[in-house]
Amino acid sequence: MVAHLLKAELHCHVEGAASPELVRHVGARHGVDLAGLFDEQGAFAWHDFTSFLNAYDRAAAVFRTPEDYRDLTFAYFSGLAAEGAIYGEVFISSDHALASGLSYRDYVEGLAQGIRDAEAATGIVGRMIATGVRHYGPDRILVAAETVANEPHPLVTGFGVAGDERMHHPRDFADAFRIAGEAGLGLTVHAGEFGGPESVRDALDHLGVSRIGHGVRAIEDADLVRRIVEEGIVLELCPGSNVALGLYPAIADHPYRRLQDAGARVTVSSDDPPYFRSSIGAEYGWLSRELGLSDAALNQATRTSIEAAFVDEPTRKRLLARLPT
Ligand code: ADE
Ligand code: ZN
Repeated sequence: MVAHLLKAELHCHVEGAASPELVRHVGARHGVDLAGLFDEQGAFAWHDFTSFLNAYDRAAAVFRTPEDYRDLTFAYFSGLAAEGAIYGEVFISSDHALASGLSYRDYVEGLAQGIRDAEAATGIVGRMIATGVRHYGPDRILVAAETVANEPHPLVTGFGVAGDERMHHPRDFADAFRIAGEAGLGLTVHAGEFGGPESVRDALDHLGVSRIGHGVRAIEDADLVRRIVEEGIVLELCPGSNVALGLYPAIADHPYRRLQDAGARVTVSSDDPPYFRSSIGAEYGWLSRELGLSDAALNQATRTSIEAAFVDEPTRKRLLARLPT
């Protein structure tokens, strides 16, 4: 039973958090043809990482107005709160806004309204991490960093890169991360999901990040795990996503516990919950039941998330004060 635990998640893609029902609802608003996007049970249809990314882009394209995005963050953050979360960060993407015909400003304002409305309704605190998409290429990632640096917003507190890790090298994004870092944003990058330990090492060498999205495959290299422990790098682990995308056969095979026991600062998140039949509550539940994590270990994951959150210090202090000691 994990329902009573306070939770937090650092790694969820806002477009990837849209449920099939919401996508159908907003798609109908705009008369979007969604043929082939869903399977016979009404879930998103995909079968591997590439087809997942394609389905994700198609579903994202139904969101076209600030109100659509407000509805998306309101639904997501209210759902988080209902599962016992007190804090969440979502990855946002100026490229997806552009593809939907929205300016970055209108996109962020719509998303921010949903976050504010969810906080007013439930008390949950939320922030946004602007991302570049790796498979759109380094030029687009640079534009994403310049956009977020030139148009600051109080609820956009981080910068990162998501997308297909099998493409490009972290050094290609070094300028983007430098610009975002100089703008005062927290930095994280997806690595060690579809790339091996060398991908994590390259990200640490070139990007100055304090957190790694996934990073799970660091477990294949003991020296790298030692480095992650020594440098206090926080891992945004997403066990349900890793199993759904075929990295591990089952949660029982996931290295969460081994990374934790090695001394790494581990956290748990749902990544793209409806695609992976996940949620923050499901992730905590799987770690409890399938990996035998104690309530104390799960509370520590929440604490680590708040410690590593991209928030101002008064907000961090307020959130930490809510956690069990
Ligand atoms: N974008 C959305 N979900 C992702 C994932 N699991 N890995 C990389 N990019 C993503
Ligand atoms: Zn992710």
